[in-house]
Parts: sequence; structure tokens; C-alpha cells
Amino acid sequence: MRSHPDIKKILLDENTILNRIDKLAEQINDDYTDIENIMIVSILKGAFMFTSDLLKRITIPHIVDFMALSTYGAESRASGEVRVIMDLRHPVQNQHVLIVEDIFDSGLTLQFLERILQSRNVASLKTCVLTQKEGKKNPEIKIDYLGFTIPDVWVVGYGLDYADKHRTLPYIAELKPEVYH
Ligand code: XMP
Ligand code: MG
Repeated sequence: MRSHPDIKKILLDENTILNRIDKLAEQINDDYTDIENIMIVSILKGAFMFTSDLLKRITIPHIVDFMALSTYGAESRASGEVRVIMDLRHPVQNQHVLIVEDIFDSGLTLQFLERILQSRNVASLKTCVLTQKEGKKNPEIKIDYLGFTIPDVWVVGYGLDYADKHRTLPYIAELKPEVYH
């Protein structure tokens, strides 16, 4: 398996991730059977691998669109400031939207995104998040489909990065603290 000296420990290997995605897709296929078309909103860059593996398993009619978001530096993060780097190509009004996101930490990113999408008058809005950090909850945000709860450490791989590095590892791993401290 491809490894790297910055990696401390593999938390979720590829098989574990894909098996869980099978289950999430089953659930989504079941829950949306009566809906004509769903619009998947994938959050770049982090959710690109998750989105790809998830959507290969979605059998109900859907389209996928992408939005790139970026959280401001540590200070403004506390104020929940998020930037839209690239907006959706398609209008979402009256659409059944499912947000696909890589990780839930403070929940501010999802809170910001939900506010934007709700203001565009979507028909329904749900969230599918691959990982949530242990002990991190945001009463404003409900995760409808959650892959895994993970320890509150910096993780990389399977779309997740540190300074844009390690994003394409096929597994999710804990980064050595000395790398990011
Ligand atoms: P919030 O706090 O808004 O954070 O829920 C979500 C965003 O923060 C980034 N993030 C991480 N990215 N490894 C990463 O690669 C991590 O451990 C991590 N924790 C937070 C990520 O961009 C996510 O969208
Ligand atoms: Mg990131």
C-alpha cells in the first residue's frame, strides 16, 4: 500500500471506505425512490473521491454539480466565514439537493452552505458526509447520511489534504502532528 513518512496511522483503509459507501448508497437509493431527480452538490476539492465512489453506486436519476468552498484562516474561521471559490453551474430552485461533503469538523462550512442553498429555494436539502470528528457537533446541522466518526486529529487522503498534499491517497490516515504543528 502506498504510504508516506508524514502519515502516522491509517484510520480507514480503502475496503472499509468502499464497504461503508455501499451501505450509504443503498440507503440513499431507498430514501429517494419516489423522487424524480436528485441534484448532488459535491464540495470541492475534498469530496471529489467520495463523490465519485458514491455516485457509481447511486441507481436513481441524478445529476451532479460542484461547488468549491474555502474556509478563511484560523481567526475568521471562528466567525464562520467561508468563501465561495466556484459556484454551481445549475440553478437549484425547486431541486431535491443532496450535499456531499468530505468532513464535518466545526460544522461551519455546512452551515454556511445550507444557508446559501436554502436561500435559493430548494425543494429539499439533505447532507451526506463521509467523516465526522468525534465530539464535534453543531446543533444547527443535521447529517442525514454519515460514513464514519473519526478521532479529532488532522486527517488526509481520499480527498482530504494538508496544504493540498496527500489528497490522492486511497485511504484516510492520521497525519503526524509534527507535520502540521
Ligand atoms: P468545518 O469546521 O467547517 O470544517 O466543519 C470543514 C472543512 O474543514 C476542513 N477540514 C479538514 N480537512 N483534514 C482535512 O483535510 C482534516 O482533518 C480536516 N478538518 C477540517 C475541510 O476542508 C472541511 O470541508
Ligand atoms: Mg481542505
